[in-house]
Amino acid sequence: MKVAILTGGGDCPGLNAVIRAAARGCGACGGYMVGVQNGWQGLLEANYKPLTLDTVSGILPLGGTILGTSRTNPFTQEGGPEQIMKNVEAEGIDAVLAIGGEDTLGVAMKLHRDFGLQVVGVPKTIDNDLSGTDYTFGFDTAVSVATEAIDRLHSTAESHNRTMVVEVMGRHTGWIAVMSGIAGGADAVLIPEFPLTVEEVAELVTRRQERGKNFSIVVVSEGAKLTWHSGAEESILASSETDAFGHVRLGGVGSVLGQQLERLTGSETRVTILGHVQRGGTPTARDRILATRFGIKAVEMIEAGHWGRMAALRGDRIEEVELVEAVETCKYVPREFFDIASVFFG
Ligand code: F6P
Repeated sequence: MKVAILTGGGDCPGLNAVIRAAARGCGACGGYMVGVQNGWQGLLEANYKPLTLDTVSGILPLGGTILGTSRTNPFTQEGGPEQIMKNVEAEGIDAVLAIGGEDTLGVAMKLHRDFGLQVVGVPKTIDNDLSGTDYTFGFDTAVSVATEAIDRLHSTAESHNRTMVVEVMGRHTGWIAVMSGIAGGADAVLIPEFPLTVEEVAELVTRRQERGKNFSIVVVSEGAKLTWHSGAEESILASSETDAFGHVRLGGVGSVLGQQLERLTGSETRVTILGHVQRGGTPTARDRILATRFGIKAVEMIEAGHWGRMAALRGDRIEEVELVEAVETCKYVPREFFDIASVFFG
């Protein structure tokens, strides 16, 4: 059996661990794996890279993806899906293993449903916003990077009596913010799911000043809107241009929030935008293990012909779910996590 593997969307620590596990698992079952370069773009252009035991040797701890990635959406290109099906047939590909988030797996789901592509998915994203799985790989690394940043900002905030605003990624959800906020002991966390007003955050900072704590750490998720007591709200974007999946580029809410907090509290404020640092570099052990388990499971699903499905983590078990279940809704932060974080606010 010839299996094509691709990585799509934003890169993420653990992608290479999945590629290695799937290539080894596939080889052990007498199959053959070919790498597709740059996500769905590679299947549109028939751009492949042979994956041998040698190619995947030593890649387990590497960040990024040896296959390259892109945010290509074949469904926005005239004849795109048909071209993919033609290339799959011409190359003699029996199955496609797509590693990605909602966008990449959304394409996989539609190619399966509407064109009969034999595809299975593995859930990837630092944002952890994919339904059907408790966690995606890459998320643990992003939370660890953000937590380390918060720890480091704590000592400088305390030395200078400053308020430190830390902006983290996460797109429509606040998973990275709330988890790194809990792990790092943040004094306020702003996420899209459970908005705090700017005045409420200022009040938390002031409350700390009143009890002699002249420094504060405020974590804000890039997708959080700035909301005000009056009911006014503002979305801050890095760019309103959209990508092939209709996403605007987020970023900058931390800077606006920082200015407003300084104005309302009088506390000298600095802003750190962590950005792509959260996505780069080596995966944590937890992400390497999860990615490896997903890769092995995906090969089992291919062998069993379980098309249109995705490997998923449920509790501590790796299970299978329908791709459609994974991509139809976003997985938001449940109230209980925010409530835990908020016990430590102010
Ligand atoms: O989905 C992963 C992610 O890192 C989001 O958290 C972020 O909003 C987006 O990708 C950034 O995309 P880009 O790499 O295109 O700037």
